[in-house]
Amino acid sequence: MTNLWETERLIIRSWIPERDAEQAFVIYSDPEVTHFLGKASLVTSVESQRQRLIDNIERCLRRATPTHRRNNGTGYWAIVEKQTTTIVGTIILKQLPDKDGLPTQDYEVGWHLRRASWGKGYATEAGQAMLNYGFSVLNLPVIYAVVKPENHASIRVTERLGMKPVGRTNKYYNIELLLFQLDAPEEWKGNRGAVLEQRAGGRRSGV
Ligand SMILES: CC(C)(COP(=O)(O)OP(=O)(O)OC[C@H]1O[C@@H](n2cnc3c(N)ncnc32)[C@H](O)[C@@H]1OP(=O)(O)O)[C@@H](O)C(=O)NCCC(=O)NCCS
Repeated sequence: MTNLWETERLIIRSWIPERDAEQAFVIYSDPEVTHFLGKASLVTSVESQRQRLIDNIERCLRRATPTHRRNNGTGYWAIVEKQTTTIVGTIILKQLPDKDGLPTQDYEVGWHLRRASWGKGYATEAGQAMLNYGFSVLNLPVIYAVVKPENHASIRVTERLGMKPVGRTNKYYNIELLLFQLDAPEEWKGNRGAVLEQRAGGRRSGV
């Protein structure tokens, strides 16, 4: 198991399909959670959930750049609540797909929480951790988020993270979405990451 980052209340770690499928199923079998994620996101059995975790990990590893691979990046990470060790959601940092589903050079951050864990600030806390990781470890110059215009809860997360609204775009996922972006902080540009993690509001953990 790879722990990627640690915040005050959360651990961000890789998914372990054999062990985590049931907890992932709690998230992705809930139509309220998948409402804005598209019908294909709704999972109907623990077994298909397990297979989906495996597929996500394999696909992301295949596409990963050498830097990302060196950091064990899978693109989809489990968010674990420290107090209970429960998986409360998924945090994403991966290449945005173009209209044909092929990876672009643009990276997106994304968040999915199980219903019982909404309203606690976890998406914002985990999102901040992934922005810190993307800027300070992967050296990304800019990170995007794409959100359906009706998904107000997710738009509020981008606002809390200080992401700038850029307008509507058709460039990704073959659908019109609101685009948000955050540029790397000046002091992190071109940095290799090691020292600056201390300033990142959370810390890298066990990679
Ligand atoms: C989008 C989603 C992750 C947002 O979840 P959320 O709980 O509203 O967002 P956060 O975890 O950042 O929590 C913020 C909320 O917790 C509240 N909160 C409570 N305690 C808090 C704390 N200690 N720190 C910060 N916020 C806290 C905030 O006031 C805020 O509520 P508000 O928006 O009503 O003001 C969630 O609705 C979800 O999983 N949706 C389904 C999947 C989805 O659509 N993902 C987005 C695809 S683009």
